[in-house]
Amino acid sequence: MKAIRGATTVAKDCPEDIRDSVRELLDAIFSENSLRLDEVVCIMLSSTADITSFYPAKAAREAGYARFPLYSSTEPSIEGSLSRCIRVMILVERSKAVKHIYLREAKMLRKDLTKTLNIAIDGPAGSGKSTVSRIIAERLGILYLDTGAMYRAIALKCVRENADYADKDVIKNIVDRIDIKVDYCNGAQVTLLDGEDVSAEIRTPQVSLLASYVSAYSFVRTKMVELQRDIAAKFSCVLDGRDIGTNVLPDCEFKFFLTADNKVRAKRRHAENVAKGIDQPFDEVLKEIEERDFHDRNRAVAPLKQASDAQVVDTSDMTIDEVVSLILTKVEEKI
Ligand code: DC
Repeated sequence: MKAIRGATTVAKDCPEDIRDSVRELLDAIFSENSLRLDEVVCIMLSSTADITSFYPAKAAREAGYARFPLYSSTEPSIEGSLSRCIRVMILVERSKAVKHIYLREAKMLRKDLTKTLNIAIDGPAGSGKSTVSRIIAERLGILYLDTGAMYRAIALKCVRENADYADKDVIKNIVDRIDIKVDYCNGAQVTLLDGEDVSAEIRTPQVSLLASYVSAYSFVRTKMVELQRDIAAKFSCVLDGRDIGTNVLPDCEFKFFLTADNKVRAKRRHAENVAKGIDQPFDEVLKEIEERDFHDRNRAVAPLKQASDAQVVDTSDMTIDEVVSLILTKVEEKI
């Protein structure tokens, strides 16, 4: 079950304006969410105390939204709050992400829906950032940008061309020719290398390690950071990486830095590998994670480091749900 939120305002407290606003709001919610009537469990409406001439639930019924329980209530009068406002919450039987709709003056109630919302989640490998970022993006109905996938795609091209990662000119030549794009399919990121979907192929241990090395070159980072900033400017998204809060989006309002004990991180990565059918002994996974951390933390350009204004979250003894709810609470406090 999901809850869709929405709100609108009326110009005057009169039945015609209330009917128009409620119809416009519900029509927009249904069309933007491609919502079917049989998915709706109930519709709850509330209106500010300065709306007295007509029940919003009656307006909903008249607009054809009548097959499910409808409920209307009046909110207490609160000084300084938006006037002549009608709010709605629709409970729906669906699991995919929903879109909240705010119209007219009510747009100002949700800054996140009217301007792009970016959330930066940095941290070392295995800190839980990709799982957490994916869930947060899902819950907020925004995109998840896995920036590591871009560096991995470059590393994959180097593997395919049998390039020596230590030879700067060779890597520069590859990066000059490379075309990396990200696309989305049912909300999931698809990483395209020269037009080919390489989302699965970039997950091998060999590519992981090589990505850490090639990402240290400044010309690699310049090209990828430009792409990341471009996406973040256009779309609300959760970005996970190593330098999002420090370098890609230094002015981002929401920054988190996830950490975890080395052994815990290696255990998580080992379990992920097993699930993917990658057979690599635990000690080797641990060694690789430590090597990658060392390299990511000590490179000259945009190293892995927490931004001074990032909230640090040690996930060693936390469940994914606990990390998600901590971050969502922090974000929702401000939006
Ligand atoms: O998050 P990941 O494990 O998929 O990232 C792979 C490598 O890419 C990582 O070891 C360092 C590099 N990377 C980076 O330098 N900056 C980022 N924003 C993301 C990843």
